[in-house]
Amino acid sequence: MIEFILNDKFIQADPKKSGIAFLDFLRKDESLKGMKLVCKEGECGACTVLVGELKEGELMYQSMTSCIMPLANAHRKHIVTIEGINMEGLNKVQQEMVDNNGTQCGFCTPGFVMSMTGALLTGEVVNQENMIKNIDGNICRCTGYHSILRACENVVSDVGGKPKSMNTLIKKSYLPAYFKDIKKQLENINSDRDKSGIHKRKDGVKLGGGTDLYVQRPSELYESQPNHMYDKPKLNDIKIVGKEMRFGASVTMGDLYRSELFNNAIPKQKEFFKLLSSTQIRNMATIGGNLINASPIGDFTIFLLAMNSKIVLTKGNKNRTIQLKDFYLDYKKMDLNEGEYLKEIRFNIPDWNNTFFSFEKVSLRKYLDIAGVNTAFQVTLDDNKKIIEAHISAGGVGPIPWYLKKTRQFLLGKTFDEKTIDKTIKIINEEITPISDARGTADYKRLLLRQLFLAHCLKIDESIYDVRALIQS
Ligand SMILES: Cc1cc2nc3c(=O)[nH]c(=O)nc-3n(C[C@H](O)[C@H](O)[C@H](O)COP(=O)(O)OP(=O)(O)OC[C@H]3O[C@@H](n4cnc5c(N)ncnc54)[C@H](O)[C@@H]3O)c2cc1C
Ligand code: FES
Ligand code: FES
Repeated sequence: MIEFILNDKFIQADPKKSGIAFLDFLRKDESLKGMKLVCKEGECGACTVLVGELKEGELMYQSMTSCIMPLANAHRKHIVTIEGINMEGLNKVQQEMVDNNGTQCGFCTPGFVMSMTGALLTGEVVNQENMIKNIDGNICRCTGYHSILRACENVVSDVGGKPKSMNTLIKKSYLPAYFKDIKKQLENINSDRDKSGIHKRKDGVKLGGGTDLYVQRPSELYESQPNHMYDKPKLNDIKIVGKEMRFGASVTMGDLYRSELFNNAIPKQKEFFKLLSSTQIRNMATIGGNLINASPIGDFTIFLLAMNSKIVLTKGNKNRTIQLKDFYLDYKKMDLNEGEYLKEIRFNIPDWNNTFFSFEKVSLRKYLDIAGVNTAFQVTLDDNKKIIEAHISAGGVGPIPWYLKKTRQFLLGKTFDEKTIDKTIKIINEEITPISDARGTADYKRLLLRQLFLAHCLKIDESIYDVRALIQS
């Protein structure tokens, strides 16, 4: 059985339905119609629910778009819909939306209210910056965002500062009273963890967070019982072994964003995460899904290629470890054998005293959009600025997420200066094979990659070019 708490009700759902989207379960099986069905592609946030789970003994909530969330991923969790935060009269977030004219047609409103409430439950400081981050996956087509932001500001000034306890949020009318018993109930449901009944269909389609598959092939998931990878404990570890960062394939972008280990190993990369989809999607999207999807513009794939990562592929008891750069053979073709799955991702933590890393992405919209072209660059210099190691990747300029082997070879042993960079741009251009498509012409993509490579280099050493002359060139 798939077991979870839906608002204040314990649910046991049929494992045969494990592949249906949670929003359909809500609206059809439970007749809870508060969360809206709009895009069904994770883009608008109208279906946002809060997903609470025990992590190291603490109850932590994340927002997710239920239209592309598999029912199975609710297993042993607390799912909160707009009905689950209703109380006698409006709760405080709802009241602020009304008082600040934050709603007109109302279609987006339950999603916004859930994301704003979620911002109080993530364990992060409650301030306007975090509030805005939490609503980055919610779109309103008629009210305009200023009134919603005013509602956010008022919530922040009412509860702001350190994360508040559940009891405080109940007393202040943000949450109904039943929330105080949820942790105990989840401990009970999770106490017999080994008896889980949802991971048995080994022959089913492998399903992580579902953010790709529900958009690409939803009927396949509805009609069959998928092989759910998302909650497998051995795929969810983040650790450092020796000098190596290792994490399981089902670790999500959100897990890495919050991981102290990851952020200490790769400092200054929090900005990178903001360029990836939205808070809700990052909370669902696994790194394994990003790599196996094999999209030529997968952002995490491009990031990990420039970290010179290895991946561990598993079938039965057999593991094989290969370089990520050797994994992609042709468009959506990978060195992945029948029955194998991705278990772990590994890379050496660089010595940041002499190693520099940069990720750049251009898309039609700055946020919540897939890349036209993206690229990452890792370079290690000696005291004389000689390049002793380099890894460079680029997406959107060929049929696969591209590790630029020839460019790396050219860079090794050269001095990191203007002359080398100019020559490198020529080598990059010889190596890539962009095509014209909806994201831009081939020439435009070449130009973008040139500009992004220069942006990497200026981040590493801003004195290397006369920037004003460069912009004009
Ligand atoms: C609104 C929206 C915005 C997005 N924005 C971005 C963005 O900015 N940047 C970006 O890179 N991507 C973006 N994506 C794409 C997507 O979120 C990512 O590619 C995500 O990492 C996929 O992970 P998942 O767990 O959801 O994959 P799933 O959909 O669960 O699976 C994807 C593929 O991986 C396979 N798979 C999953 N886990 C394993 C495993 N352990 N072993 C073998 N096969 C496995 C599945 O069979 C499937 O083929 C966006 C998607 C949406 C819906
Ligand atoms: S309906 Fe738009 S994100 Fe779910
Ligand atoms: S109030 Fe109509 S879409 Fe936001």
